[in-house]
Amino acid sequence: MSAALAEKPHEDPDAFKKGEAVIIVRDLKNGFGEQMVHDGLDLQVKKGEILGVVGGSGTGKSVLMRSIIGLQQPLSGEVEVFGEPMIGREEHEAREIRKRWGVLFQGGALFSTLTVAENVEVPLREYYPSLDEALLDQIANYKVAMSGLAPEAGAKFPSELSGGMRKRAGLARSLALDPELLFLDEPTAGLDPIGAAAFDDLIKGLKETLGLTVFLITHDLDTLHAICDRIAVLADKKVVAIGTIPELLALDHPWIQEYFNGPRGRAANETSERHAHDDPAENQKRRDAALNSAGGDTVAQNGTENPGGEDR
Ligand SMILES: Nc1ncnc2c1ncn2[C@@H]1O[C@H](COP(=O)(O)OP(=O)(O)OP(=O)(O)O)[C@@H](O)[C@H]1O
Ligand SMILES: [Mg+2]
Repeated sequence: MSAALAEKPHEDPDAFKKGEAVIIVRDLKNGFGEQMVHDGLDLQVKKGEILGVVGGSGTGKSVLMRSIIGLQQPLSGEVEVFGEPMIGREEHEAREIRKRWGVLFQGGALFSTLTVAENVEVPLREYYPSLDEALLDQIANYKVAMSGLAPEAGAKFPSELSGGMRKRAGLARSLALDPELLFLDEPTAGLDPIGAAAFDDLIKGLKETLGLTVFLITHDLDTLHAICDRIAVLADKKVVAIGTIPELLALDHPWIQEYFNGPRGRAANETSERHAHDDPAENQKRRDAALNSAGGDTVAQNGTENPGGEDR
């Protein structure tokens, strides 16, 4: 599929073959009082892709995510996840579907009175109440390690963590139930560029090793270039375009042109072209070198286990 302005996937039932789309949103309407946030929004997310979702602040990216995961009741429209209709489902049915995804909310949304490991255990206890404590600890420690946190982070409270560590802790919790689908709302916001790049690598690695599909809301142009297979653009209360960056760049839409071709967009584009043929080991070396030259003592000792050196 190539990008087109104001594409209407709900009018094209064959946009993806049956079973290829993990998320389908058709003709979604959301509003608060007088304010319409979405009006006729359509979107399909393909199995195994990282879909970047961009749009100006307040265009309804988080509301869209909340509608898909069932935290926001839309005014009308259809939402399907894993081929299952989500709107108006019985709680016990929705629960079975929810089990198959993980969510990292915009603010992290960790429970402040629980340690990182206890936070990771929350969904495990909810969905598998009979797991014994030793196994819960083991799974939590494994997820903490998978998220690139040092083992001792598991015993810390959210208030004792840096912003980057909190993101990783949120990611660890979102991975608790071995999801097939991950929702990430601004995962790199507030991270320094090296931490953000490390987080991108982590998401890409998890996608490749676990075969995840990722719905990724972001403002981060570097992230879009580095890890997203396609990008959906929210504007005018709908998804105005969806496609790869070159496909989007070919479109004559003022916000898209300003975003990808403005000064920041061009800089991200140049960086991604420079690194297009780099291999991940080289990238890691470059980041380690940057950390060393910055004189920090936060260098990741083992790039693969803890790519986010800022979290130590
Ligand atoms: N619970 C709510 N009650 C009333 N208005 C809401 C609610 N949630 C969101 N909104 C409004 O809906 C609009 C879209 O909000 P949303 O949080 O989805 O924006 P966003 O695209 O995620 O923005 P940002 O990039 O700043 O995170 C905003 O105008 C917001 O004020
Ligand atoms: Mg938001």
